[in-house]
Amino acid sequence: MKLFLDTAHLAHIETASGWGILDGITTNPTLAAKEGLEFEELIERITAIVPGPVSAEVVAEDRDEMVRQGQALRKIADNVVVKVPMTQEGIAAGARLVEMGHPINVTLVFSAAQAILAANIGATFVSPFLGRVDDIANDGLHLLAEIVETYVVQGYDTEVLAASMRHPQHVVDSARIGADASTMPFEVMERLFNHPLTDIGNERFTQDWNAYQQALAERRSE
Ligand code: E4P
Repeated sequence: MKLFLDTAHLAHIETASGWGILDGITTNPTLAAKEGLEFEELIERITAIVPGPVSAEVVAEDRDEMVRQGQALRKIADNVVVKVPMTQEGIAAGARLVEMGHPINVTLVFSAAQAILAANIGATFVSPFLGRVDDIANDGLHLLAEIVETYVVQGYDTEVLAASMRHPQHVVDSARIGADASTMPFEVMERLFNHPLTDIGNERFTQDWNAYQQALAERRSE
């Protein structure tokens, strides 16, 4: 499963890129608004760091303007993926963008029915929001499993991008269910590394190595 960061924060993107595990980026208007840069400049700077897909969202309400915005975003860099909302206008705009040869990510997906629409217009990615489903006391993982199963049965090419990750177990469960990619906040990606036994083990190895070197040094000086 590919690992994406769900952020527009350049310092976090640089850090995760340095880890060698970053496959792509998703942004949304809320995340972009936190960064204090012009949107186009922000996306350009992200694409300069990350060679994988970088999702940038259109914000218009009608399909013609969404298509115009999508085309403009695609001019920023080849790896920009146009994010369109799961609405009638968004799907209509997405279908046109796909016809023009642009990759799209259908966002704000909360049902398998919506995921079928995204696949049928040839979206590159579909983004079910697991965490937000859990937030309203429903089962985000059940939604993901339903979409993955439907896509396998139908042989759809659209990649399932599990979104709205709240914690590392969401990422693990998404991988087990068969998501193609998972997008998460920086803090969740950071926590994927952590295990207390790893810390204890590393500390013990360092102590033992230092004691070993000290014993050798003492023996040499005898
Ligand atoms: C995905 O592309 C969205 O940007 C994102 O995962 C939304 O997550 P949130 O529910 O944490 O805002």
